[in-house]
Amino acid sequence: MRNFDETTITEAVLARVANAADPRVRAVSEALVRHLHAFVREIEPSFSEWEAAIGFLTGTGALCDDKRQEFILLSDTLGVSMLVDAINHRLPDGATETTVLGPFFVAAAPELPLGADMSPGVEGDPLYVTGSVTDPEGRPITGAIVDTWHSDDDGYYDVQKPAEEEGHFAMRGRFRTDAQGRFHFRTIKPAAYPIPHDGPVGKMLEAQGRHPWRPAHVHFMISAPGYETLVTHIFEEGDRYLDSDAVFGVKDSLIRAWPRHEAGQAPDASTSAVPFHTLTYDFGLKRLD
Ligand code: BEZ
Ligand code: FE
Repeated sequence: MRNFDETTITEAVLARVANAADPRVRAVSEALVRHLHAFVREIEPSFSEWEAAIGFLTGTGALCDDKRQEFILLSDTLGVSMLVDAINHRLPDGATETTVLGPFFVAAAPELPLGADMSPGVEGDPLYVTGSVTDPEGRPITGAIVDTWHSDDDGYYDVQKPAEEEGHFAMRGRFRTDAQGRFHFRTIKPAAYPIPHDGPVGKMLEAQGRHPWRPAHVHFMISAPGYETLVTHIFEEGDRYLDSDAVFGVKDSLIRAWPRHEAGQAPDASTSAVPFHTLTYDFGLKRLD
């Protein structure tokens, strides 16, 4: 077959990929070709636009290494990450809703005793976090691992700090739920922050008339044998970016007030010399099929 033109090229490529031995590879390849060709027909790019698109993707790849994943950021900011998340988390009642993982999770965060301060020496308003982990019927899960992390009150994660501070964990920790499925810890109140926007994704957001900000949140990854690992965040009620999160990650069920309290007795029965905030959330895990 030869002499392909605008009207015949799509069918020709579809015929070529139809020989794939793996049916999933065939289905994915066919959908890719159909949608990509339809996109190009709709856009009718000039050659310089096509070159700019190749340059954009090349720049996105060039910025990826073991610390920076510009392609995932692109997926996040185009709503693809949350779409994939939604397709893979059709949850039963009683299971907490999910949201994006983000680039700042560290698998090796230290396990801390219940009640520990996971941000010692970090400047910011104290935040006392309490909660529970249950099955979808509300029965407590003992020994669940609650892995949690968040930004400081300038909006930076520990892993974004200068190289000399590398390996120093702050504003992150892992806790194990007690016999009642409960956990609690102390930290500082995180702030809203812009996603990394000094690369191609930042340029795209600017060209699209969008800001790079995410509302203030605390990340949670909660796991227990026999249950699907839950990846989610809890957002602060009233944050100005709840309706315009750069990565489309906000859900009503994940928003809570983080009320401010005057100095005095804290939830862990200690005395706080300064005003503090509290955050409480009860998580439900989905049973593995
Ligand atoms: C985060 O919440 O850590 C995050 C999520 C997606 C992109 C960038 C940051
Ligand atoms: Fe985050």
